[in-house]
Amino acid sequence: MLPLTSMTDKMDKLIGLAKRRGFIFPGSEIYGGVGSTYDYGPLGVLLKNNVRRAWLRSMIEERDDIVGLDSAIIMHPKTWEASGHLQGFTDPLVDCKSCKKRFRADHLLEAHAKGMPGLHEKALTLKDVRCPECKGELTDVRNFNLMFKTFMGPVQDEAAVVYLRPETAQGIFVNFANVQQTMRKRLPFGIAQTGKSFRNEITPGNFIFRTREFEQMEMEFFVKPGTDEEHFETWKQFMMDWFTGLGVKKDHLRFYEHPKEKLSHYSKRTVDLEYDFPWGWGELWGCANRTDFDLKQHSQASGQSLEYRDDLTNERFFPYVIEPALGLDRAVLTFLLDAYDLVEGGRTTTTESAKEEEAVLRLHPSLAPIKAAILPLSKKEPLAEKAHAIRKELSKCMVVQYDETGSIGRRYRRQDEIGTPFCVTVDFETMEDHRVTVRDRDTMSQERVAVAELKDYILEKLGRC
Ligand code: GAP
Repeated sequence: MLPLTSMTDKMDKLIGLAKRRGFIFPGSEIYGGVGSTYDYGPLGVLLKNNVRRAWLRSMIEERDDIVGLDSAIIMHPKTWEASGHLQGFTDPLVDCKSCKKRFRADHLLEAHAKGMPGLHEKALTLKDVRCPECKGELTDVRNFNLMFKTFMGPVQDEAAVVYLRPETAQGIFVNFANVQQTMRKRLPFGIAQTGKSFRNEITPGNFIFRTREFEQMEMEFFVKPGTDEEHFETWKQFMMDWFTGLGVKKDHLRFYEHPKEKLSHYSKRTVDLEYDFPWGWGELWGCANRTDFDLKQHSQASGQSLEYRDDLTNERFFPYVIEPALGLDRAVLTFLLDAYDLVEGGRTTTTESAKEEEAVLRLHPSLAPIKAAILPLSKKEPLAEKAHAIRKELSKCMVVQYDETGSIGRRYRRQDEIGTPFCVTVDFETMEDHRVTVRDRDTMSQERVAVAELKDYILEKLGRC
């Protein structure tokens, strides 16, 4: 493991790159930012869409037992009563009596226990802890509901109160019967959706790891009670395989089993897939066995039956639910961190770049925002016309970038830094032999490829069908 300083250094450098190269900007930056929000720039949007697409492809398109949904962010307020969020979706909050800073009590206990080896956080109480900023005394713990409240319509009274959803899952549960009946689905089957969720987090932070507005990719897999534990194992493994299949190093991932006494109100078992973030292991993707809790609660609260009827046996029952729930922004951060490689002394041999530190974003080609860069060796005709024709042809089936400025070494480095898997150089020989040089980002090997075969050559390497 890298020493802590170089790990935070890596995080700072990645945040710098994300801003400098148009991946992620601080939200409302010209006004000094607002509450840990971030805006995705042109390359960030492409990366984020590719991650979402990869998830949708493996969750829905490559299977015949999972279907999609896009439910509303604002739901009937009774949803949150039935789901338990109004009552229980809280974090324990403490304030410092001196400097007035706010903290999550559980995070303070965790941090305090870390500094006292051999002592578990549960052996501590907040009486043992002082403010980490000024050593001041802390207030008693208050439970703080994380849901954002607003009003529907012009009248701002209690009857008009609605909430921004804190998870996409509830939109799936309330549509269980709609989807099951219209799609004539038999158990086991799943419903998947991606979309924004909102949580008024007490301590957002670590870049896009914990924010108040974020995107989730959730799938609820409905199964016959009694088969839930077996399905749980399958989905747990799926989470690991999905990330490693997209290039995340296996030794940067691990499972964390939630102790029984810390499970959410709806869960029989929860296992997180964790990533080794620069500040330590953190939750990436949670898998929960939600039992029949949500369907039963919504049936009771709405008076509409959300039972499943087995058309072979005529049995009626509430299915159990296995839920793998992933944060899209957290997945983007993971892919960026895992792909980010700083090469001391540089890896190209041009004099201008020699001995410099070079950044390479070794993103899986299917996630890379730009698939190929078109680099003519001259801005002038006839090379420019040829290069533009190649750009036009490739752009019919992949995102490409045209770059004609600076030395070729500098242009390679710019593309390496944003993770472009292939650079296509159009040179003077191209006009004679109708071939271009294709450079591979990771191996830096170069190959002459016929212009007529270029599209298929790259598509094959990208692994697309
Ligand atoms: N429906 C279950 C659920 O929402 P969760 O563990 O609270 O479970 C699922 O959230 C995933 O959403 C987390 O594993 C994480 O990746 C992401 N997530 C949760 N809170 C987040 C936040 N404040 N910022 C960014 N991502 C978050």
